[in-house]
Amino acid sequence: MSLSEKQVESMDAFRAFVGSETFSRNDYEAFKSKAKDLSVIQPRFLFRNEVASKIGRGTWMFPDTTNGVTEVSSESSVASLSVSSPVREEKEEVLLASNVIEFPKNITETYVPTKVSNYVKFGHYNDVKTIAKSGLFYPVFITGLSGNGKTMMIEQVHAELRKELFRVNITIETDEDDLIGHYALVDGRTVWQDGPVVLAMERGATLLLDEVDLASNKIMCLQPVLEGNPLLIKKEGRIVRPKPGFTVMATANTKGKGSEDGRFIGTNILNEAFLERFPVTVEQEYPTIAVEKKIIIKLMETLNVLDEEYAAKLVDWADLIRKTFYDGGVDELIATRRLVHIIHAYAIFKDRMKAISMCVARFDDQTKETFMDLYSKLDDTVSLSSEEGEDSKSTEGEEDTEDLRPY
Ligand SMILES: Nc1ncnc2c1ncn2[C@@H]1O[C@H](COP(=O)(O)OP(=O)(O)OP(=O)(O)O)[C@@H](O)[C@H]1O
Ligand SMILES: [Mg+2]
Repeated sequence: MSLSEKQVESMDAFRAFVGSETFSRNDYEAFKSKAKDLSVIQPRFLFRNEVASKIGRGTWMFPDTTNGVTEVSSESSVASLSVSSPVREEKEEVLLASNVIEFPKNITETYVPTKVSNYVKFGHYNDVKTIAKSGLFYPVFITGLSGNGKTMMIEQVHAELRKELFRVNITIETDEDDLIGHYALVDGRTVWQDGPVVLAMERGATLLLDEVDLASNKIMCLQPVLEGNPLLIKKEGRIVRPKPGFTVMATANTKGKGSEDGRFIGTNILNEAFLERFPVTVEQEYPTIAVEKKIIIKLMETLNVLDEEYAAKLVDWADLIRKTFYDGGVDELIATRRLVHIIHAYAIFKDRMKAISMCVARFDDQTKETFMDLYSKLDDTVSLSSEEGEDSKSTEGEEDTEDLRPY
């Protein structure tokens, strides 16, 4: 690779400032203001073309200048930088193998979620926004049936506030190493990698423990974090103090007491002391008919398949199924997420009944039939017979084949 003299000067000053061969995002931020005093350019170029090698989450290694690998070029163009790619690819592999939780890999990217243009605010959106905006440490537990917009609500609140959010998808395997951080062997060196909890604490961001009721007791390592206290990283002997703005939000399909009807396989009974550290629990319901219709229409507009009548019927159908579900009439229901799947299928096939049929096929035969039958009663333009017709056509085909058999 070749660097201009100014770049080498800046890099050497940065290296001296850090006092190590590696640097973190925070080091870079801290050095940025010093660069001017030291009359060197900002070492932003280190992140371009991967001049500095990423060796872990939020950690980079300076390029090796001791054995002449880095040439000093008189050209000041950053575009002239080049790094031999095979070495880089090997490093990527190591990272992927050790990274359980993925984050944006580039320092210039922020951790603010992207705004979704067709998002419709409803339910507890404003309460969650007020909490996130308050800057106070105030953990919130959001519970509700699957696919009713819990995760999306938290993401969109943060997108609107332009507040950073670290989302961790909890599984039964999630442990202290995944959450707080761990040592990883990178290029023969043992490197500490901060986990999402530490990153969120140090950046004054929100930590989202998504689907927290899938966790095992290993999640108890978060007790001090849930109290807003500093966290001692035992393996490193380092204390992390939460920056103002840091808070925790959790989502779950249950209230952490297990799933009585067995619908949510894998959910666990969370430790009472863990649950007690959430001052408030918010119960997220499915959107009302009017809100859900708005969600569906906006999505249809985005996908260029606006059909208001179909939207209205789908929402009525989902609402009826949910009511029957609450009354114990059926074991499954249609979530907002499933309606979204149906609209995508509709955008592809342009066929109302086919879209429904394909998206309810995940249910057992009886439930699928009940759901389709119900829809056909709400919509005169479709009939079950057309679907059955297709089926029967294929059955006829099968019969033909059978007729050809010699027995
Ligand atoms: N308010 C909304 N506006 C637009 N789309 C929405 C809204 N709420 C939910 N959706 C749609 O429903 C999908 C499911 O939402 P989300 O993933 O937030 O559900 P969830 O409650 O977190 O589900 P789970 O409990 O399974 O994690 C979203 O991907 C989105 O397409
Ligand atoms: Mg979710």
